[in-house]
Amino acid sequence: LSTMVVPGSQHKLYHPPEGLQKDAHVPDFNCYLELYKKSIEEPDVFWKEVASDFYWKKPPTGQILQYNFDVTKGNIYVKCMEGATTNMCYNVLDRNVKDKNLGERVAFYWEGNSPDHREAITYGQLLGQVCRCSNTLKQMGVRKGDRVAIYLPMIPELVYTMLACTRIGAVHSIVFAGFSAESLCERIMDSQCSILVTADGVYRGEKLINLKQIADEALEKCRENIPVETLSTPCRVPCPDELRLPVVFPVVQTPWDAACDVCWEEVMGQVSEQCEPEWLDAEDPLFILYTSGSTGKPKGVLHTVAGYLLYTSLTFKYVFDHQPDDVYWCTADIGWITGHSYITYGPLANGATSVLFEGIPVHPHVGRFWEVIEKYRVTKFYTAPTAIRLLMKYGLDPVQKYDLSSLRILGTVGEPINPEAWHWYHEVIGQKRCPVVDTFWQTETGGHVLTPLPAATPLKPGSAVSYHHIYTVYTVFRGRVKGRVKEPRSGMLFTYFKKFPGFYVTGDGCRRDKDGYYWIAGRIDDMINVSGHLLSTAEVEASLTDHGAVAEAAVVSRPHTVKGECLYCFVTLKDCREFNRTLVDELKRQGKIMRRVLRQIARNEKDLGDLSTMADPKVVEVLFNHRCETA
Ligand code: PRX
Repeated sequence: LSTMVVPGSQHKLYHPPEGLQKDAHVPDFNCYLELYKKSIEEPDVFWKEVASDFYWKKPPTGQILQYNFDVTKGNIYVKCMEGATTNMCYNVLDRNVKDKNLGERVAFYWEGNSPDHREAITYGQLLGQVCRCSNTLKQMGVRKGDRVAIYLPMIPELVYTMLACTRIGAVHSIVFAGFSAESLCERIMDSQCSILVTADGVYRGEKLINLKQIADEALEKCRENIPVETLSTPCRVPCPDELRLPVVFPVVQTPWDAACDVCWEEVMGQVSEQCEPEWLDAEDPLFILYTSGSTGKPKGVLHTVAGYLLYTSLTFKYVFDHQPDDVYWCTADIGWITGHSYITYGPLANGATSVLFEGIPVHPHVGRFWEVIEKYRVTKFYTAPTAIRLLMKYGLDPVQKYDLSSLRILGTVGEPINPEAWHWYHEVIGQKRCPVVDTFWQTETGGHVLTPLPAATPLKPGSAVSYHHIYTVYTVFRGRVKGRVKEPRSGMLFTYFKKFPGFYVTGDGCRRDKDGYYWIAGRIDDMINVSGHLLSTAEVEASLTDHGAVAEAAVVSRPHTVKGECLYCFVTLKDCREFNRTLVDELKRQGKIMRRVLRQIARNEKDLGDLSTMADPKVVEVLFNHRCETA
């Protein structure tokens, strides 16, 4: 790797290593500029070539891309491959197995929370499991357009279920398996899911999370929120059924209700491994994923089939310079957009071999990431700055125990990377050999918006993104903010475009230096990025003011050495209250009404279980004493 100082620039440029340039898809800067020019000047030709790699049951009837981003010229819309029909699952699985003869290639090396748990899943096996799951969902009444909530940890069944949805035209809504029952319920209700797929539980590091119990609580909340008459109309019942996964590892005894719980292992064993894909319109919905909204309510972003397929497959191929012998690893959770686009869809569309990791970076030891890289000979590694900063703290020892010579490209996502972390990543992990692609994008865009290309772009450490952006504006906005799937609230979509007619506003501040490099400065709205995850200040403020002692609350961000940013909360108390340690602890735990306990009080059930997370457990006794016996 050669470095040089650009005259007049205070930053060193890190040039792509020659070895990488030799076989790269985009081998140098000029080649990149040509591609860029073509995408801008002849978008139809450009995207037609990308689309020609995929299977279209019916070809598009008009231009490949049609859109209006200018609010002064009418409604905002984006259409990709209008008139075409296709199927995402067919393109990422059948096409690889049948047309490309990749049935024997490993799609995923699954590595469990414990290093002893692992499994290799080939493309052929993946297709079989996905078809079984598709048949199961169909047997349970799921049809094209229905929404399926998925609340699963990073296990292969998560991938089976999401792809099964896409095979039968159902719309998945994945909820990160660390979210509370309230959050799960809110999301299920908002997108009116008819089925919830979950697991008994999962170990994250040493911590056990009882997913089924949380899912049950969420469903109860959902049922509380639906008028009774709605419950009697089968097609609108939010969660009549639940498809349960087997105990993947012996965890806990989970509650079981035979009236609505269905066991994954039982049903999967009874259905066929063949399932015809449902042919969908290019603009049919593919999935919904919730992201924090500045109003405090999570907003559901809806991505559609064709544009998302083309965009994630193309960006994966170019940004990670995908090669057939790669072993790629993205450490994100599929519960976030990074996992959707760059664990499942982008890599599979390219026939890639990936690591699917259930664990956390520090379990059972702080060298776990490096151990996994050595174990599978990972060549492309994609993680978040927050993980890098966390692992930096443990020094060189945990890294030097492992052989990282397989690595060729490193990536980051989710938040700005500070130069110190960039250098550590580049020098200690990449051994000065691997370019670092710092990818800036959002849930709404579905794929990378600003990013260097590893063999084509000289890098500046800490510059969030280098030089030209790829394909922005023309293609990136695949998301539609939704109210209900069939009636997207175009008003909400409008808010992204109203500030600068003709342009999509991401909500981030950014500096461009005289060399044309972009430096993302962080959010310019009321969102805070904690460990790569956006939080809405309004939501946290609302939760704080729910506490009886709090009159007003204001939440701002403060830099944090590992998390990037953290919350700094100002509260004013009501007159009668005093500020002390107990109150601070209460406020940190604020935001969870223990409905379980209230329900048990109403039913006069005395065995209340664990009350340790309650702000004031004594209140339970008071409530029991004042119970009203008559209905
Ligand atoms: O503020 C930017 C930050 O994350 C936001 C998007 O968050 P989300 O929709 O949860 O998606 C995260 C994963 C794509 C952006 O508005 N962000 C994301 N990537 C970067 C970043 N900030 C700086 N540099 C990045 N590479």
